[in-house]
Amino acid sequence: MQRWLKISGIAVGVAVVAVAVAAVVVYVSTERRLRRTYAGPDATLVVSRDSATLTWGRHIVETRGCTDCHGANLGGGSVIDEPAIARVWAPNLTSGGGGVAPDLAVTDWERAIRRGVAKGGRPLQIMPSLEYNGLSDGDLAALIGYLQTVPPVNNAVPANTTGPLGRLLFFLGKIPLLAAERIDQKVTSQDINPTATRHSPVMAGIGSLPTSASTTVPAMTNTSPAVECQRRSPLRSE
Ligand code: HEC
Repeated sequence: MQRWLKISGIAVGVAVVAVAVAAVVVYVSTERRLRRTYAGPDATLVVSRDSATLTWGRHIVETRGCTDCHGANLGGGSVIDEPAIARVWAPNLTSGGGGVAPDLAVTDWERAIRRGVAKGGRPLQIMPSLEYNGLSDGDLAALIGYLQTVPPVNNAVPANTTGPLGRLLFFLGKIPLLAAERIDQKVTSQDINPTATRHSPVMAGIGSLPTSASTTVPAMTNTSPAVECQRRSPLRSE
């Protein structure tokens, strides 16, 4: 009897140590990926603010799902609120209190949107930059121009946290948390891709555009079959 107690005691001890070691491995590995710094070439986008470009920029914001996560007024919003998995907020993109716009240079906007990298180089969580990676320089410049001019909203979102279950799923490759890991960070310009620029009136020549949104803006749904998915969080879509 005593012998069995001893053996099961050892077994429990071994199991506890194994779980603790696994937890440390998961934590250290995910922490390293979350804190990695991504460097990249600076974008050379020219942002103009004429009304046709801003109209096009607004159209991109409205059709590519930005407002689903960043809020209808782009003042920020909660994307995931499951403490065991993660608590992630999409930041306030405006120039109001708590908004990121005043801190972001054109290059920072480009890195965040097209490459999933925050100012300072850390990878953004959940932000679906893989879906925006194919935006042409013209489309992206229009988008940035519009974002720089949206009305300010005062709203500071809390800091993001990643819970133990979220880390485990991320470790196991079940959550595509960081788009930056799957994007070629060396490529900045997308104008080499003719299909990506095809639908941009900015590239087609601004002079030829009428001014009203309903008539100027061609549908973007044919740029990618995955447009519907782009409007949803990768977590929520499962
Ligand atoms: C599925 C939800 C989601 C969608 C859709 C989305 N974002 Fe985000 N975005 C986020 C989250 C979450 C963050 C913050 C991630 C972090 O801090 O790790 C973020 C961060 C950003 C940042 C970085 C801000 C900073 O702190 O420097 C910018 C810029 C941005 N998003 C712009 C956009 C634009 C423009 C679109 C549409 C083309 C868009 N986002 C669509 C969730 C989303």
